[in-house]
Amino acid sequence: MDNKETLEHEIPLCQLNDLEEMASIELSIGERRLFAIRQDNQLYAYWNSCPHLGIPLNWMPDHFLDLDGSLIQCSSHGALFEVDSGKCIAGPCTGDHLKPVQLRVEDGTYYVAANQPMPAAPINLRAQAMADLEGS
Ligand code: FES
Repeated sequence: MDNKETLEHEIPLCQLNDLEEMASIELSIGERRLFAIRQDNQLYAYWNSCPHLGIPLNWMPDHFLDLDGSLIQCSSHGALFEVDSGKCIAGPCTGDHLKPVQLRVEDGTYYVAANQPMPAAPINLRAQAMADLEGS
């Protein structure tokens, strides 16, 4: 898969009421992953790829927030991101942004919108390490 791949069909994500305030949900689209968090009765969605190394933010399913439950936190090196903007405000990628996922809402159901570019597939560090070992 290359960086220019486009999501051709919309995909149902959830209804707002499926999530408590500051709860999140994950979705996989092939190798790509995305997540959405409910804050102030709005849904904010991002591709699950940290701007620091291009790897997924979370280690545990559906867990993206820091201990306070107010900011998105990358589990690898602790970068913190604002939920509503995706901006990194602390950590190795300060000033960078998570890539937003475009959503479409109809009758209370949120969909991952069609015809949007998808980011590169996340780096699989384990597979990369295995390939390096086999090549050496
Ligand atoms: S990979 Fe996210 S902070 Fe390093």
